Amino acid sequence: MMDAPRHDVKDPGLAEAGSRRVEWALAEMPVLRSLMERFADEKPLAGTRISACLHVTAETANLARVLVAGGAEVALCASNPLSTQDDVAAALALKYGISTFAHRGDNHENYYRRLAAALDISPNITIDDGADLVSQLHTGRTELLDGIIGGTEETTTGVIRLRAMAAEGALRYPIIAVNDADTKHLFDNRYGTGQSTIDSILRSTNILIAGKVFTVCGYGWCGRGVAMRAQGLGAKVIVTEVEPVRALEATMDGFQVMPLIDAAPLSDIIITVTGNKHVIDRHHLEALKNGCIIANAGHFDVEINLKALREMATNRFEPRTSVEEFTLDGGRRVRVLAEGRLVNLGAAEGHPPSVMDMSFANQALAAAYIRQNHNSLEKTVHVMPKALDQEVARLKLEAMGSNIDVLTAEQEKYLASWQEGT
Ligand code: ADE
Repeated sequence: MMDAPRHDVKDPGLAEAGSRRVEWALAEMPVLRSLMERFADEKPLAGTRISACLHVTAETANLARVLVAGGAEVALCASNPLSTQDDVAAALALKYGISTFAHRGDNHENYYRRLAAALDISPNITIDDGADLVSQLHTGRTELLDGIIGGTEETTTGVIRLRAMAAEGALRYPIIAVNDADTKHLFDNRYGTGQSTIDSILRSTNILIAGKVFTVCGYGWCGRGVAMRAQGLGAKVIVTEVEPVRALEATMDGFQVMPLIDAAPLSDIIITVTGNKHVIDRHHLEALKNGCIIANAGHFDVEINLKALREMATNRFEPRTSVEEFTLDGGRRVRVLAEGRLVNLGAAEGHPPSVMDMSFANQALAAAYIRQNHNSLEKTVHVMPKALDQEVARLKLEAMGSNIDVLTAEQEKYLASWQEGT
């Protein structure tokens, strides 16, 4: 064991168990493994201080190790009070020597106290999942802004917040929207959220999905993934949407599309994945079928109006871990998973390592890109450079043993010409 860095973790005694899970995950992360080797050779992040606010999971631990291999000093805090894996946090601090500030189940005050601790290294780069670091830096810790050369953002919700800041001219340093890389959202948001959300429902409730009416609110990449996997398990899937093109796509993908108020009395399970507030509101709660399970797979715990639910409830009890059952007037029961927080991380382990491999390869490459190019980056939200996105795809294909064709010279010429027709 190496000397412990500055850290604040719940139970240091869990370090050994945590490191076993981190190594297990690494075996499924071939792209990160190859970057770890390359970063160790080339040290693209030498002397860079990085504050990272991410779900503290086995997969995140491996990203942190890659950044450290690249020469960075890393301080890590949690991006959600319920997603921290305490054994992994302990391993990060005590086995891998990475400053970690995270406890599963933190209240609001402690969550922000630990976030502040991660900023105390005076970062040059921030890595966010939900834009909390950027937000703290722009509203409270403004004295640190001068030392920052750039940041990255992992999730759709964070990118939306950051684009709003950039549009108002409020963003004080450049951000790379890792979420918008094809090798991130097409895989992590769709296959990752699809599988891990179902996983969390099964772990917390042990219900049979086949034959159930399963409603998905929101048909972005995450919603598509959840709907597809629920259908694969035999559910009758309903999709609710506010955006007409997405609603049309859901219809042609074979799902029933209707307003949530109509779906509420039909549904056995409702999952929100919209990124918006009070998607399941008081009038929906009043219309729910008896025994309905509701959960949120969006970044923030705002999608279900929990305040209204608590006000409406005459009784609350916990029949199982991560399940709260509320009894409403007239005896109807509503079950909420993972306190309405990100269910796939609150009631399961988040996305599997194989998909986080690509998301976090993008994060590592984006950090190195910022280090190299920060002088020419405007203070706005940037897309991930296409060449890096494709490099991640190539490395993943190679690791999966897949080969692809290359264009012939004749085909290259054809694609670049406009004279050749019928
Ligand atoms: N977001 C979703 N799943 C995750 C995981 N396993 N680790 C870190 N962030 C995640």
